[in-house]
Amino acid sequence: MNSAMGDEARAWLLALVGMLLAGAASAAAEESTSIAKPGCQERCGNVSIPYPFGTTEGCYFNDDFYISCNSTHYDPPRAFLTGSTIEVINITVQGKLRIMQFIAHDCYNRSGAPVSSNTPFLTLSKFRISDTDNKFVAIGCDTEATIQGIQDVQGYISGCISKCDSIDYVDNHTCSGIGCCQTSIAKGVSYFELSVGSYNNHRGVWDFNPCSYAFVIEEKMFNFSSSYLRDLQDVTVMPMVLDWFIGNETCETVKAKGMRDACQGDSTCYNVDNGSGYRCKCLDGYEGNPYLPNGCRDIDECKDPNLNNCERMCRNTKGNYTCFCPKGYHGDGRTDGTDCVAIQSGSLVIQLTVGLGVGITALLAGSTWSFWAFKRWKLIKLKHKFFRQNGGLMLQQELSRRDTSTETAKIFSAEELEKATNNYDESRIIGRGGYGTVYKGTLSDGRIVAIKKSQIVDESQIDQFINEVVVLSQINHRNVVKLLGCCLETEVPLLVYEFITNGTLFEHIHNKSKASSMTFETRLRIAAETAGVLSYLHSSASIPIIHRDVKSTNILLDDVYTAKVSDFGASRLVPLDQVGISTVVQGTFGYLDPEYLHTSQLTEKSDVYSFGVVLVELLTGQKALCFQRSEEERNLAMYFLSAFKQDRLSQILEKCVVKEAKIEVVKEIAKLAKRCLRVKGEERPTIKEVAMELEGLRIMVKHHPWGNHDEPNLEEMEYLLGEPSLKLGSNAAYDSMKDHVILQVGNGR
Ligand SMILES: *[C@@H]1O[C@H](CO)[C@@H](O)[C@H](O)[C@H]1NC(C)=O
Ligand SMILES: *[C@@H]1O[C@H](CO)[C@@H](O)[C@H](O)[C@H]1NC(C)=O
Ligand SMILES: *[C@@H]1O[C@H](CO)[C@@H](O)[C@H](O)[C@H]1NC(C)=O
Ligand SMILES: *[C@@H]1O[C@H](CO)[C@@H](O)[C@H](O)[C@H]1NC(C)=O
Ligand SMILES: *[C@@H]1O[C@H](CO)[C@@H](O)[C@H](O)[C@H]1NC(C)=O
Ligand SMILES: *[C@@H]1O[C@H](CO)[C@@H](O)[C@H](O)[C@H]1NC(C)=O
Ligand SMILES: *[C@@H]1O[C@H](CO)[C@@H](O)[C@H](O)[C@H]1NC(C)=O
Ligand SMILES: *[C@@H]1O[C@H](CO)[C@@H](O)[C@H](O)[C@H]1NC(C)=O
Ligand SMILES: *[C@@H]1O[C@H](CO)[C@@H](O)[C@H](O)[C@H]1NC(C)=O
Ligand SMILES: *[C@@H]1O[C@H](CO)[C@@H](O)[C@H](O)[C@H]1NC(C)=O
Ligand SMILES: *[C@@H]1O[C@H](CO)[C@@H](O)[C@H](O)[C@H]1NC(C)=O
Repeated sequence: MNSAMGDEARAWLLALVGMLLAGAASAAAEESTSIAKPGCQERCGNVSIPYPFGTTEGCYFNDDFYISCNSTHYDPPRAFLTGSTIEVINITVQGKLRIMQFIAHDCYNRSGAPVSSNTPFLTLSKFRISDTDNKFVAIGCDTEATIQGIQDVQGYISGCISKCDSIDYVDNHTCSGIGCCQTSIAKGVSYFELSVGSYNNHRGVWDFNPCSYAFVIEEKMFNFSSSYLRDLQDVTVMPMVLDWFIGNETCETVKAKGMRDACQGDSTCYNVDNGSGYRCKCLDGYEGNPYLPNGCRDIDECKDPNLNNCERMCRNTKGNYTCFCPKGYHGDGRTDGTDCVAIQSGSLVIQLTVGLGVGITALLAGSTWSFWAFKRWKLIKLKHKFFRQNGGLMLQQELSRRDTSTETAKIFSAEELEKATNNYDESRIIGRGGYGTVYKGTLSDGRIVAIKKSQIVDESQIDQFINEVVVLSQINHRNVVKLLGCCLETEVPLLVYEFITNGTLFEHIHNKSKASSMTFETRLRIAAETAGVLSYLHSSASIPIIHRDVKSTNILLDDVYTAKVSDFGASRLVPLDQVGISTVVQGTFGYLDPEYLHTSQLTEKSDVYSFGVVLVELLTGQKALCFQRSEEERNLAMYFLSAFKQDRLSQILEKCVVKEAKIEVVKEIAKLAKRCLRVKGEERPTIKEVAMELEGLRIMVKHHPWGNHDEPNLEEMEYLLGEPSLKLGSNAAYDSMKDHVILQVGNGR
């Protein structure tokens, strides 16, 4: 621990020295703001040419980016794309290229004879017409215009029609179909041809509209005016936008081939739409040309109050900035943080600032020591505080009262768990849930454990939390993830569980490659085991243990698909409203008991409801995620219930369930799920009834693995199903089944 403190102190020292030197450093860091390679032409007439574009050999990235600057025929000079006749009027390093493109026209004289027309086209050997920036527009009152293009390798045609009788009805400033119509450009177009024609040779409208026009134009440059109907004859070109990018491969492919991408300095590579090329962009906090070495320059956020949220003082750092407070104040200095608060006199900071005046050397030595001592004292105090706050004293008492022969929860120290997880290393994270992070750790005795670190604590729940820790740590049931202990010295309690090898039920249901190997029988067994263990805990000796957060991500599986329910009562650690919120926000399947919205209480019957959802999930499998996507407002339970009602059950079932299970059996499970999902808690069955029915179904399926041809004896099936109806009351099979269930539950204790 001492070495950790040393590191912290060193970091603090460095920061202090950095502060003193900051002024000098920032003055020296002036960098050039050139947009082109050194010695290359930065402009061609009015157009600035940023690298990777360039006008002479060695100045551009490759031939795709060659700009020919024609100064012999034009003054000021004009820029053309790769030696073609396509004129370039603006280039941005963000990947846009503005060019001028000819417009199509079709004109007639008063008596309806054609005067002139054209069909301009544009062919790009590289780059694409931007579908987001451009529109195809046609203007005229007797006009039919088309754009024919090639998108990748296939052709496409689109267009629009505009007819009108009088200029009086033309909407000025809106291109809405009268006198002017428009349509979008397809994605990925590299070639197009425009043509425009008329139905009636502009007879009857000639007075105000002798010609039809069609063009592709940058949307934000276009504002229709009814005067265009008459006098667009002098206009021959319109501005439009191309998307440019480098190469024809993704960033990943380039890297995989062992080549360097074109991104330099503080920049990053990203793929354009379809992976047919890539671009570079400066990292957050930087701006400039990402294709040049040192092209991305740090943004000085402190210069622009819109870019920083410092209350008092701002210091620019590389790629970011920090706020700080003047002498005599403390806080983070952020308007969205703690601001700056005046320090009461006599505090440590004032003493330190006095020290500054005495001499920097003295200060550094002195302050390091006092910082270290202060921090150490504070840390010890903090640990005690957390331990008390987290109910440590209570737990210690509780544990010492019990007999020490049985294995109970252990109280781990903070250091022990830090060591086990390599100081909570990112690579040890095996899961992130609604209210915590789970790390994989190795204890000093070699045991592999899962360590759960919660995010927030509701202090009012601490008593119950401790109580449950004690109860849970004594439970040794094959379908419960064993709680080995906890650590209370940290701000939030850490829980230590046994490590389960094969991940969550959720993954096994929804991951295609895993789902296929989970048979119907296995699904049914997992359901039965889960219901069984919930039943066991609901009827546990001292207090009923309500799980409160039954969901497929809380059911873990070992390497032979044994269900291991985790996180019993762990939701105690979170204020309940947050459980609700996280359930909604995460867009899970809606496991939360609807009654909770009225009563704000989670009961045994809430577990039954959540279990019902898991049951549905097991039946619908991967399709569950699809409903979730298509039916945004409705949850899985409602979707399932409506499908069940409309007799569409087989449409929404997982493939293997349809294939392997008799529809009658599935219907029984569905009926059971339906009962679990009743809105009124009191109308739901107890989890014990549910467990018994599932166990009955399981036994039946096991002993009657019917093929599709082999009709079941319906009578026999009905009684094996164990509906708690009169018919079955004194049936031998039912009784023996019940025994079996009880037996299994008993085993767990
Ligand atoms: C260049 O810019 C000037 C002033 O902004 C403008 O008058 C001129 O028409 C522009 N030339 C070209 C070729 O765009
Ligand atoms: C400049 O443009 C004119 C007319 O388009 C063309 O004839 C000439 O070859 C061009 N010059 C260069 C250097 O590209
Ligand atoms: C090029 O476009 C950018 C962004 O739209 C604009 O800021 C810049 O002024 C334009 N440059 C020219 C020469 O039109
Ligand atoms: C229109 O053009 C046709 C053929 O070019 C010509 O015969 C006719 O006189 C023209 N009409 C007018 C009104 O100019
Ligand atoms: C539409 O606007 C243009 C200029 O903005 C104006 O000359 C014309 O008279 C207007 N037309 C109508 C029908 O309002
Ligand atoms: C088009 O121009 C008119 C007048 O110049 C203006 O009132 C209107 O807001 C503009 N519309 C758009 C979409 O820019
Ligand atoms: C990608 O570009 C390379 C070189 O520019 C070229 O040889 C290759 O044919 C292109 N591949 C495709 C799929 O266009
Ligand atoms: C995306 O790329 C694939 C293969 O390169 C192609 O078949 C597909 O048409 C492209 N889609 C679009 C929208 O460009
Ligand atoms: C800048 O620093 C703040 C606080 O340290 C952090 O929240 C933010 O993500 C950082 N921004 C960038 C661009 O790194
Ligand atoms: C599905 O499972 C396989 C095999 O364990 C794994 O490689 C893959 O990443 C998983 N897919 C998803 C989307 O989690
Ligand atoms: C559990 O994981 C192991 C190793 O990844 C694998 O071999 C085994 O098939 C998995 N078992 C199940 C039930 O997924």
